[in-house]
Amino acid sequence: MSQEQRLREWVREGKSKKGCRVITVSGGKGGVGKTNLSVALSLAAASQGRRTFLMDGDLGLANIDVLFNLDAERDLSHVLSGRAELDDILIDLPFGLTLVPGASGMTQMADLADIHPDALEGMLCELEKRAELVLVDTGAGITREVVEFCVLSGEVLVVTTPEPTAITDAYALIKVLAEREPGLDLWLLVNMARDHAEGEATIARIREVAERFLGITIKSAGVVLDDPVVSTAVRNRQPFTLAYPHSSAQSCVMSIARNLGFDRPCDQQGSSNFFRRMRSLFTGPRTVTGTS
Ligand SMILES: Nc1ncnc2c1ncn2[C@@H]1O[C@H](COP(=O)(O)OP(=O)(O)OP(=O)(O)O)[C@@H](O)[C@H]1O
Ligand SMILES: [Mg+2]
Repeated sequence: MSQEQRLREWVREGKSKKGCRVITVSGGKGGVGKTNLSVALSLAAASQGRRTFLMDGDLGLANIDVLFNLDAERDLSHVLSGRAELDDILIDLPFGLTLVPGASGMTQMADLADIHPDALEGMLCELEKRAELVLVDTGAGITREVVEFCVLSGEVLVVTTPEPTAITDAYALIKVLAEREPGLDLWLLVNMARDHAEGEATIARIREVAERFLGITIKSAGVVLDDPVVSTAVRNRQPFTLAYPHSSAQSCVMSIARNLGFDRPCDQQGSSNFFRRMRSLFTGPRTVTGTS
């Protein structure tokens, strides 16, 4: 099927099908657990029957494939530059989860200048058609790329730990997002908490400050406890979900997956217009807000 035919089909289907849910996982500070939790939550969603795609949106240091002990020969950069089809790069993971390996060679959005619009169009068409839920793992920092991903997806899972530096960075990200796109759906997750009380207290404090100073409501996704199995699993290049299914970290992940609604079909939970916005980012005027 040509790109043009795909596009026509996509537009036709778009009228009847609600867009899929896209959640960007971000947090500001490095090493707070974004990648491990993106992997664990997308495995949880897939195991609950959601057609889930996990996208490595860390443009500089894509490393989800490393966590799965995979060596992705080709990635998103090959698709976007027209050197591969989406199907050539997708990797099947347990529970029917599909990995879209990140464009690790592309360090900045600027590098995406040589994107083939047809290739992008084709990729977006295919993803939107097949996925019910897409989770995008982002790199550390409040870079332009991270903010764009968050704004485009419409729903953001902000990850922090109870450490003051991580809280400050998460709040800085929340502030930037709230100013940029007040309508974003923001979820807060506290990782590596000593116990549930510490995690809940951290969530309550951040929510309170955001409500008072930014006038926004952040939803609580929940708490993941500090659990040594996570780093053991990382060292063995295995997601902790699969290596330690009965661990306390995994039981926290399952309850967060429920809080996020991954046990219910995603088309009952609104649509993000991610794909249309993404398309307009590269093919239309460089405005990404207010296009829905
Ligand atoms: N719940 C947890 N309990 C204990 N250790 C954890 C937990 N979550 C993450 N870690 C540790 O933190 C490390 C960093 O996790 P991860 O790579 O997922 O963070 P990240 O936010 O994606 O980092 P980056 O910003 O570099 O992308 C892991 O290798 C693991 O050792
Ligand atoms: Mg990471």
